[in-house]
Amino acid sequence: MVPEAEQATMVVDDVGPRNVGIEVSTEERNVRLTGTVVVDEGAKLFRLYSKSSMYAFCVDPVGRIEHLYWGKALPPTDELTYLSFSQGPAKLQRAAVAKKYLRAKPSATALVSNDASGSDTERGNDLADSDSSMDGGPPNCSERAPSPQRVESALAEDDSSAGAHRDTINALGINNLQDLLDAGSIFRAQIDTSTNIKCPLPWENPRTFLGEWAGAATFGKPAKLLEFGEGNTGDYRSPSFELQFHDGGRVCPFRYRSHRVIPGKPSMKNANGTLPELHTNAKDATTVVVTLVIEKSFLECDLVYTVFSDIDAIARRVVLRNTTIHPVLVEKLMSATVDFHTFDSFFLTHLSGSWANERGIVSKELSMGRVCIESCRGTSSHQHNPFAALSAGQPREEDGEVYGMALVYSGNFVAEADMCENGRVRLQMGINPTNFEWELQPNEIFESPECVLVFSDSGLTGMSHQFHNLFRNHLFPKQFQDTVCPVLINTWEAMYFDTTYANVMSLAKRAAKSGVEMLVVDDGWFGARDDATSSLGDWYVNNEKLPEGLAMLAKNINDLGMHFGLWVEPELVSQKSRLYQAHPDWILHKPDIDKDSADGDFVLDLTRTDVQKYLIECMSSIFESANIEYVKWDMNSHITEIYSDHVAPSAQGKVYHQYCMGLYRVLRTLTSRFPRIRFETCCGGGGRFDAGMLHYSPQIWTSDNTDATSRLFIQHGTSLLYPPSCISAHISSVPNHQTLRISSFKYRFLVSLFGSLGLELNITTIEEEECAELSMYLQLYKALSPIIHEGDFYRLWNPVEQKQRCAWMSYHQGRGEAVVAAFLLTSDPGHYLPRLRLKGLDPAATYQVEEIIPSTAAHNVQTGRIEACPAPIYKLGKKSITASGRTLMNAGLPIHLIYDGDTAAFYIRDSARKM
Ligand code: DGJ
Repeated sequence: MVPEAEQATMVVDDVGPRNVGIEVSTEERNVRLTGTVVVDEGAKLFRLYSKSSMYAFCVDPVGRIEHLYWGKALPPTDELTYLSFSQGPAKLQRAAVAKKYLRAKPSATALVSNDASGSDTERGNDLADSDSSMDGGPPNCSERAPSPQRVESALAEDDSSAGAHRDTINALGINNLQDLLDAGSIFRAQIDTSTNIKCPLPWENPRTFLGEWAGAATFGKPAKLLEFGEGNTGDYRSPSFELQFHDGGRVCPFRYRSHRVIPGKPSMKNANGTLPELHTNAKDATTVVVTLVIEKSFLECDLVYTVFSDIDAIARRVVLRNTTIHPVLVEKLMSATVDFHTFDSFFLTHLSGSWANERGIVSKELSMGRVCIESCRGTSSHQHNPFAALSAGQPREEDGEVYGMALVYSGNFVAEADMCENGRVRLQMGINPTNFEWELQPNEIFESPECVLVFSDSGLTGMSHQFHNLFRNHLFPKQFQDTVCPVLINTWEAMYFDTTYANVMSLAKRAAKSGVEMLVVDDGWFGARDDATSSLGDWYVNNEKLPEGLAMLAKNINDLGMHFGLWVEPELVSQKSRLYQAHPDWILHKPDIDKDSADGDFVLDLTRTDVQKYLIECMSSIFESANIEYVKWDMNSHITEIYSDHVAPSAQGKVYHQYCMGLYRVLRTLTSRFPRIRFETCCGGGGRFDAGMLHYSPQIWTSDNTDATSRLFIQHGTSLLYPPSCISAHISSVPNHQTLRISSFKYRFLVSLFGSLGLELNITTIEEEECAELSMYLQLYKALSPIIHEGDFYRLWNPVEQKQRCAWMSYHQGRGEAVVAAFLLTSDPGHYLPRLRLKGLDPAATYQVEEIIPSTAAHNVQTGRIEACPAPIYKLGKKSITASGRTLMNAGLPIHLIYDGDTAAFYIRDSARKM
């Protein structure tokens, strides 16, 4: 067998610098490099090639992992170490000098402040490096021209080189300290008192010296771009990790020890359970594991990077191994840290909102200081999403570089953007350190959740495409990849808790006639559940409502030609329930403090294996009891009074994460035990819409707000990183139950078309005519959804920026087909809309553009009134037009949307393709 490291070398050699001869073009080479890791063993430089971008880092002279580059792919022949901070000409390590100064005779050492290069002030910030002794040693100054840029090299720390220092300084014509100070920034020198440099008086007093210059530690070293930033050694940026040793020490200088490259992606088996993760194979990805160690304590840590060949993405995680003989307290461990060089301005983009208004796009300019996007609620939350993106300047939809990060995790998270004094920004993401503490015993391992890094040089659209493809190809449960969920009708807004057999069956019969493919019984079918105050936990059928039982109900639904699905909310228990009476200790609570239970329910303690086991068995028996093919897994609470009776008092800091791990265990067991069941996860609407959940459920309930206009905003924001297929989008009744807004059937359909379409309405109450309309829409959905679910999604008009309008498009390159929909939210009479310019098409191809649902209303030009028309009204004047991709993308479609809620939709096909 070939050892892992050698296998890696083979991968590298096959495509690496040595084999890249003149006969291989840059493009060809980049294609061959995608999904590989090129390691320059000499320089300890790692280049991670994804589809068309590259991520590079190196080991610095001290042994830290220094970030070099993230962006478009660069040739492997280019030596990138010149980007390294460590290579810079001016590296003053004041604190180290200060220490020496105190140790040595005051008059024997002088601190000289300057950087004759003058320009590179960033380098001057690398001041307080306590590891100077490991700093690779001084270069041989005699080989170097005595230029100002070489001053630092000449002024090495080795006393024996004092003569050379002197020579260099003399050659520079610098005769005293002030000359050096005047010349620019800073470097370090140890200068013999016999030199002709005279120290100004204050320096001769060690105290003054420390106060003023070892104060460099206050100044910090937030200049180096790092992959894993430590605290407590002079870098005052938000650290990547915080640890406490048994002696109370918090100084943890992790340094490079080794690395190995592995084809594919090793699974996350060290996570104290199973964390959700991206899946891939040896052909599509390569992983590099960089092992670091804290020299004296022997604590080890792996930085794990997996680079994908088909997408501009890298998955990162960190594994901590306690190889010491004492426990180590982990207080913070970010999954990924990226330090960015300065841009003229940095913008942070994230998704924030509230219940019924989830995931609005927020972009703000960063200024010095730290911005945290976080959840402390036990779920990823309605308020913030585990996602953040940085861009140079305000992010643009179509162009510009965007760097996105998403955490594959469903619990408390934090995304930190920390801009330090020199304008550089650290972006990192991981488990929220608030309420987190993990004591790692000797020989124990802690693995962080995975964090996905995505690069786009085509703005937010490009970033979305990378995330969409990544989640579709590498995250969704494999058996549901490239499948469209059957069109379903959910009973919630149709009957709420009144889920009687008669109600469900009459809904099902009418739905079946309209072409609905699945019925999902939502809340209210179990225990004594007539409202939200009871019965969670009592997962047995309510015989009064459903005397036929679940099996018979499912069969009767199946007999109508429909699949059957069921709602459950396993993580909660009602105070009024048999389960709670039997196991009052099974909840998360602090026994001596009254639990706040406004809704009469509690969160089960999923840190407990007995509770996990109970849920697995209880749910399994329900799922086995009937032909259930779909499960909506709800969770209508955030976690409060975090405390587990089952966890030692000193280990309560583990509870939030262990809850999440417990939930993942339950979901993993059930989804693998019932692979045919398609899960939809939900959390009081969209309160747990994250990449962690997508590992188990290929779709997530997006929001409790089903109003089409609200959904335009919610789905628009959600699309920033989540593909349309996982966005559950149901057509609901009018007036809408959350907003009382009335919108047309067509408008509601088109909003749902760009998601996983379902119905959330009492179909038995709608007119025959509307039923026919619905049937037509469902047929359209069946025909168009593969284009939307597998295609590239474009946000053509942004409802937030453009206020009164929104437009979306999906283009499936392989099929040469596109679907476009435009919505007018509020009309502005007398004012024309801009032409709708399409995106992503082949400029040279010819397309047929067909309006799929023509309007039935038009302006009466005599009176100015908008009137219903018997004949279809086409926005382009006719049913279809033919135009080149170039024309459609540059000239666009002149569509006249005239009233509030007016819409237009088009099906576009490359004329050269066969139908
Ligand atoms: C919250 C969900 O978001 C709704 O769709 C519905 O399932 C209710 N819970 C039921 O209690």
